[in-house]
Amino acid sequence: MYRTHTCGELRAENIGTEVKLSGWVQKTRELGGMTFVDIRDRYGITQLVFDDSKNAQLAENAANLGREYVINIVGDVIERESKNKNIPTGEIEILVKQLIVLNESETPPFTIEDETDGGDELRMKYRYLDLRRSPLQKSLKLRHDMGIAIRNYLHKQGFYEIETPYLIKSTPEGARDFVVPSRMNENQFYALPQSPQTFKQLLMVAGYDKYFQIVKCFRDEDLRADRQPEFTQIDCEMAFVERDDILNVFEGLTKYLFKEVKGFEFEGDFQKMPYDTAMELYGSDKPDIRFDMKFVELTKTVANSGFVVFDSAEYVAGITAKGCSEYTRKQLDALTDFVKKPQIGAQGLVYCKYNEDGTLKSSVDKFFDADALKQWAEVMNAEPGDLMLILAGNKKKTQSALCELRLEMGKQLGLMNRNTFAPLWVVDFPLLEWNEDSKRFFAMHHPFTSPKPDDLHYFDSEPGRMKANAYDLVINGVEIGGGSIRIHDKDIQSKMFDTLGFSKEEANDQFGFLMNAFKYGAPPHGGVAFGFDRLVSLFAGFDSIRDTIAFPKNNSGRDVMIDSPSFIAKEQLDELNIQLKAKQ
Ligand code: AMO
Repeated sequence: MYRTHTCGELRAENIGTEVKLSGWVQKTRELGGMTFVDIRDRYGITQLVFDDSKNAQLAENAANLGREYVINIVGDVIERESKNKNIPTGEIEILVKQLIVLNESETPPFTIEDETDGGDELRMKYRYLDLRRSPLQKSLKLRHDMGIAIRNYLHKQGFYEIETPYLIKSTPEGARDFVVPSRMNENQFYALPQSPQTFKQLLMVAGYDKYFQIVKCFRDEDLRADRQPEFTQIDCEMAFVERDDILNVFEGLTKYLFKEVKGFEFEGDFQKMPYDTAMELYGSDKPDIRFDMKFVELTKTVANSGFVVFDSAEYVAGITAKGCSEYTRKQLDALTDFVKKPQIGAQGLVYCKYNEDGTLKSSVDKFFDADALKQWAEVMNAEPGDLMLILAGNKKKTQSALCELRLEMGKQLGLMNRNTFAPLWVVDFPLLEWNEDSKRFFAMHHPFTSPKPDDLHYFDSEPGRMKANAYDLVINGVEIGGGSIRIHDKDIQSKMFDTLGFSKEEANDQFGFLMNAFKYGAPPHGGVAFGFDRLVSLFAGFDSIRDTIAFPKNNSGRDVMIDSPSFIAKEQLDELNIQLKAKQ
């Protein structure tokens, strides 16, 4: 037997008992004829004490233990003289009688502490050591707890968890596919699923009217803090449902998770905000509504002043930053630099301070007199003490830049508290997106999303006007999940493929299996998928989803620990009938 207790378990009531513990050496120190060793496992840390005067050899062996040695000890639980209130085992220590080194360890390349000295790449390379650290252990425990709670909730609601294959044909989620060559089918490739979308729809045709799966998805796309090339979805589909049936079940799941796992209760229903409103007020389809600072459009208010930037702009809009009229020149210059960054893309920033004494001072005083600025203040709901920040230009780009500026101000003013949770459903997305380069429509969500029934007649006249019966769950500005009511009628589905520029052959080649299935009694259905990594990250208060994943990839899509992707042997390539091109 290696242990009677874990390293996080012993308390004052265990004093006087003999125990056996196993774990890793966190640190050793010698003090006044005693050697102290902290022993650690995933449950916690316990202090061991070796008394030089009682057993000099044992104390010397203890002093020679290196960091991360794996040890096994037998000893008596005794009361600790100087108690440590910061750890649950802080009232006791173990007076060790026997010490066995189960395995030695090389000195780890970084400290296994909450605040480690290891950089990102180093910790990724030695991920198994990084995973010994308590913040990561807490994160993986949180992920586990959430997974269990999700399964419990959906099981109670009558959902079946059904696995779908990983070696499939391309799914149209808008990213590139990862592909896998087939040895048995020469020159042919599988694609890894970007999501189980088509399979879950087939399960609805098959009559499994409540499906879910906590499932890996694979997308070859540019990576960011909230994107990994392989990530996990809580993927769901239901039949005989309308939009609100789905929203109710998954709002219920969200509330259940917050209550069970975080002890946090939401009041009332999540707000439903049409996409158009989200864009008008926040310039984003994933608005962070923890704070207000809504956009106010000023295009008409500022027209015809002679200020060419405003006069020539398709769209002028601003935000009011409460209590910021004292922003210094330096701070305002920094904000101007911020909006002019290439990834934000504004040409410049106009500001207007509404000073405490009631006077108004703007960066465009040459063109706008005090009365005009007063009018701005009225329209923008600004009061003495406030700062108005205004951008102008092409509507879409300006909305996007103003959104970034709003978030930056939210950060600067401390309005984005990690312990405040502001959820909403963004609904009524456009069905299609026009791409100017390729001069064709793309599905904003995916090609199986149903148009709103009232918009069906636009298919032939103005497809761009159609709204989708689609929805996203957004919490604190993060897109947690998205879904839609699907098309279940083969004629509408075929019309959709037409509108997206698929020829009959292309549609048939890619999605013939689904169109065929729809000939055999497809029920009305719809679903949603939540990003599990993003949800865990939100619960944990992390900036990146990386630390919610045991073995993540870095920003170049590499696993630096196992050194993948990597070259494969010539024999493997030959077997697959693949010849590599010379590196360009
Ligand atoms: P969608 O593409 O919106 O919908 O994905 C659903 C959710 O998955 C998460 N997500 C990601 N998380 C981490 N890394 C990524 N690369 C990544 N990409 C997406 C997001 C997102 O909201 N089949 C549809 C769902 C449906 O219609 O039912 C789908 O996959 O949180």
